[in-house]
Amino acid sequence: MTTRTATSLDQPLTTTASSPTATTSLAWANALGQLSGAVEILGYGEGLHEMLATPRRELNVAVPLRRDDGRVELFHGFRVQHNISRGPGKGGLRYHPSVDIDEVRSLAMLMTWKCAIVELPYGGAKGGVGINPHEYSQAELERVTRRYTSEIMPIIGPENDIMAPDMGTGEQTMAWVMDTYSVSKGHTIPAVVTGKPLAVGGSLGRPTATSRGVVHVTQSALAEAGAELAGSTVAIQGFGKVGSHAAAIFAEEGAHVVAVTDEFGGVHNPAGLDVARLFEHVGATGSVVGFDGADPIDNTGLLALEVDVLVPAAVDGVINAQTAPLVRARFVVEGANGPTTSEADTILAAQGTVVVPDILANAGGVVVSYFEWVQANQAYWWTLAEIEEKLAGRMRSAYADVAGLARRENLTLRDAALVIGVKRVAEAHQIRGLYP
Ligand SMILES: NC(=O)c1ccc[n+]([C@@H]2O[C@H](COP(=O)([O-])OP(=O)(O)OC[C@H]3O[C@@H](n4cnc5c(N)ncnc54)[C@H](O)[C@@H]3O)[C@@H](O)[C@H]2O)c1
Repeated sequence: MTTRTATSLDQPLTTTASSPTATTSLAWANALGQLSGAVEILGYGEGLHEMLATPRRELNVAVPLRRDDGRVELFHGFRVQHNISRGPGKGGLRYHPSVDIDEVRSLAMLMTWKCAIVELPYGGAKGGVGINPHEYSQAELERVTRRYTSEIMPIIGPENDIMAPDMGTGEQTMAWVMDTYSVSKGHTIPAVVTGKPLAVGGSLGRPTATSRGVVHVTQSALAEAGAELAGSTVAIQGFGKVGSHAAAIFAEEGAHVVAVTDEFGGVHNPAGLDVARLFEHVGATGSVVGFDGADPIDNTGLLALEVDVLVPAAVDGVINAQTAPLVRARFVVEGANGPTTSEADTILAAQGTVVVPDILANAGGVVVSYFEWVQANQAYWWTLAEIEEKLAGRMRSAYADVAGLARRENLTLRDAALVIGVKRVAEAHQIRGLYP
């Protein structure tokens, strides 16, 4: 428990749940390191720094599952609300075997800055269950989702904390969360989750929003360097919700998607992959591996390709001290959360590689999630054209804010984005004051 002894927000607190310890994971250490960098630039005191570093609320739940064959298995689930000064917690739900409290904390913190950068009235949250969804049936995943939802019920809700899909979860998962929550309250409450199917109050444009946002910021970054997306070469790691739609939209915009990988391997064709046919192949086989008209490539080989744009859109920490020196792309646009470690950031900056950071590059998903929440609250749905126009406007204006600050203060795009996000959250926190 945190005990407050100081009278000013800029004075140190006596304890904090979030201080790095020997067991702190790389992802959490990375997130704390990024915050420290922004706090130093902003000149904030230790008390405010600790306040910003410390999650407001963390829930750790056991999620027992009755398997289809009658056996019982137990999973660990988490929901972290990192900061709620600007509005309700907002953040995805991840199903992956590596999920632990530190990973969820770090992702919740990233959500806080991300929502502030794109000026959404939300704080940051995240949830996860340490399960490999590929090893369980749909019925088992439904039971896991409903039990997890029921366990975290006291802290979620349309005004408290709104979930969305992340790695290993999708529209169907959100429909189960929404149904479980609604049944417990006695009426349908679509605004408790975003990224739902259209049939239960989802938004047009949500499935492709993160990827479309990645493409918008790539266009902005290229334009700033006097280059164009049409004719540029792109390599994408991950062919899930973010990577696959990004590949399709990049191709639509005239870029050559020369390589994609997933957890099983990858494919490379220097002349550009036929993305529509690749979708058919993945639909039939479950992986990009084995796609004809392309050579095999592994995940490290993809990171080392000489391309204009590299989009990591899978797991965190893939561009690290070992792999960063191999990167030959001019731009790294982070579709995934946390794909670049702090050490790698330093290496890439020294190499002259421009990194468009996750908290800006993949914010398109939460922007359209916000639109979905607004539509659900009003029970009035917008057209796809309205949504895409508003998404483009927000992404481009957020990019312009970040790039403008980076230029004026000679910062990397990541530092500039963090400074903007952290400052907006700190301002809200300070203006609200401390209760009681
Ligand atoms: N879905 C969203 O709207 C959204 C929004 C913002 C950020 N993100 C982030 O984007 C990333 C991907 O999320 P997603 O929703 O596309 O997940 P997903 O589960 O739909 O897809 C993940 C992809 O990564 C691949 N993958 C998994 N482990 C890998 C490994 N070790 N090496 C290479 N590839 C691997 C999988 O095969 C799959 O193709 C995550 O970091 C997530 O937090 C997602």
